[in-house]
Amino acid sequence: MTDRYGRTIRYLRISLTDRCNLRCRYCMPAEGVPLRPHGEILRYEEIVEIAKAALALGIDTFKLTGGEPLVRREVPALVAALKALPGTRQVTLTTNGLLLGAQLDALLAAGLDAVNVSLDTLDDEEYHALTRRDFPVATVLDNLRRAARQLPVKVNAVLLSETADQWIPLAGLAADPGVDVRFIEEMPIGKGEAAPELTADRVLAVLRSRWPDLAPCGEKRGNGPAHYYRAAGLSGRIGFIDAVSHRFCANCDRLRLTCTGILRPCLCYDDGIDLRALVRSGAGPEALQQAIRQAIAEKPEAHCFGAGHGSEQTMNRIGG
Ligand code: GTP
Ligand code: 5AD
Ligand code: SF4
Repeated sequence: MTDRYGRTIRYLRISLTDRCNLRCRYCMPAEGVPLRPHGEILRYEEIVEIAKAALALGIDTFKLTGGEPLVRREVPALVAALKALPGTRQVTLTTNGLLLGAQLDALLAAGLDAVNVSLDTLDDEEYHALTRRDFPVATVLDNLRRAARQLPVKVNAVLLSETADQWIPLAGLAADPGVDVRFIEEMPIGKGEAAPELTADRVLAVLRSRWPDLAPCGEKRGNGPAHYYRAAGLSGRIGFIDAVSHRFCANCDRLRLTCTGILRPCLCYDDGIDLRALVRSGAGPEALQQAIRQAIAEKPEAHCFGAGHGSEQTMNRIGG
């Protein structure tokens, strides 16, 4: 389906939970956020109903996010159910990687198409300070390397002032076959604050001190807004998600479903359409499709960071 600015919408980000085993400082307050009672969280059958309605409108690509999606039980069962729907093109997952090792085989058997792993630093002390938890970076690295032997992996690193010395080591992870590394400008959503000096262009300049031939490759990798570069010394690509310095809203192709079933037209909207109420009222596929059409009709032309929208929301609820 096409929205009123001519953008074709074909990607749905689905947040499975607002819970997380980390407390990244740009995402959640140290004490966490009041968690929604289980009854408010969409059940997998309900997500599948919504996905069917989305597919009928041409939305054929699903991203599972959180919070941390893998803290929820039986994610592989949901992946398998979504992959089994006629018309599904891809199901991918974005995770902090800590629980990925234990679930990797089941996720692969379920047909998962790709995985993104969030990792902002390779330094344990910094990782602990940033995530406010004591997990070793090595766990994330082991899991992502294991995953990369079997499916495409992208590392997501949010740009933070204290981790500027990590840009080159993080980019070096792309020396491993099957691993892309993306640098993400911090967005002013929830606990996030835009850091206008930490731009994709600045990172690129630093990376070129190590990989002077780093050049745009024009490839589309995955389904997101990242743009990619390559260098002879790296098997994977280096990507940038520069939502702050270079708005990419003109190409936006997505909707977001929160874990409580609210369908949001844009990252920066607090409100959306309550699909949970619809599903639970026994509304059929037509009514769900109509609600999704409405969300598409309400998509704004561009995000409105800083315009007061989204200020009450944390990224673990929105799903990134
Ligand atoms: P793939 O490339 O297919 O893996 O998708 P993706 O990049 O959309 O996935 P991921 O879940 O890893 O998201 C990476 C970052 O991009 C997160 O910080 C998201 O918040 C951000 N992001 C994804 N979509 C949008 C968008 O439409 N607008 C903005 N501003 N940021 C987005
Ligand atoms: N700005 C940019 N990226 C963010 N993420 C979480 N909060 C923010 C923010 N404020 C990232 C996570 C993860 C992805 C889903 O979103 O690090 O990689
Ligand atoms: Fe958890 Fe991701 Fe938020 Fe970090 S950014 S606290 S890993 S949901």
